Amino acid sequence: MRKPIIAGNWKMHKLIGESVALAAAIREALGGIEEAMSVIAPPFTALGGVAEVLKGSDIRLCGQNLHEAPGGQGAFTGEISASMLLDAGCSHVIIGHSERRTLFSESDSRINAKMKTALQYGLTPIFCLGETLAQREANETFPVIENQLKEGLINIAANDIGRVVIAYEPVWAIGTGKTASPAQAEEVHLFIRGFIENQYGKELAEKIPVLYGGSVNPGNIRELMSRENIDGALVGGASLDAESFSRLVRYKF
Ligand code: PGA
Repeated sequence: MRKPIIAGNWKMHKLIGESVALAAAIREALGGIEEAMSVIAPPFTALGGVAEVLKGSDIRLCGQNLHEAPGGQGAFTGEISASMLLDAGCSHVIIGHSERRTLFSESDSRINAKMKTALQYGLTPIFCLGETLAQREANETFPVIENQLKEGLINIAANDIGRVVIAYEPVWAIGTGKTASPAQAEEVHLFIRGFIENQYGKELAEKIPVLYGGSVNPGNIRELMSRENIDGALVGGASLDAESFSRLVRYKF
């Protein structure tokens, strides 16, 4: 049985004080909930403060991106390394978010390098993929997803794939209020699991959490989570408020 994961991606929102207050409110609202794993990804400037607030709780801290340089440091102005994320208290990192792919021109091969670096440092990558509206309308969803999986996971060994979280985020559903229907999401999740099974075998395919992302909110999460292959959610807008985020984590109750 895969434990549900609810991950909040705060993107470029919240100052340090606001982040610390939100994390404290989320911690209080969630109490010792064990049915789902909660992950929050504040902006880099707030990681240290939020890590303090989360100490001793089960809520995991997540970076929104990392630089792939394997040495953990170097002349890369404006970037952040895997060791810096670990040092700040992160256990997870988002990789290949569609905003990184489209607004910051991150290629599949760059994303693959970031995946390898995250795994090498013991961070759990939340590997994002998804098709655009034009690709969906041209019936290219499955080939696009297959290609993103193939390219993003090049040379990632079986003993590492078990530590990867995959997030299917159709680009047309991100921040638009348009959610994929549970049936639309489920068929892509099943496809992703099938790909992992082909490459790495059934046991690992059964183990890997596949999250859905794109306009998830407390009103639609239950139906999405009722599908067999949807193991959680990567949430933007609805994760910026403690009440809404905690309702997402408590979707069953
Ligand atoms: P959204 O963002 O929930 O605001 O659509 C999801 C994401 O970008 O991960």
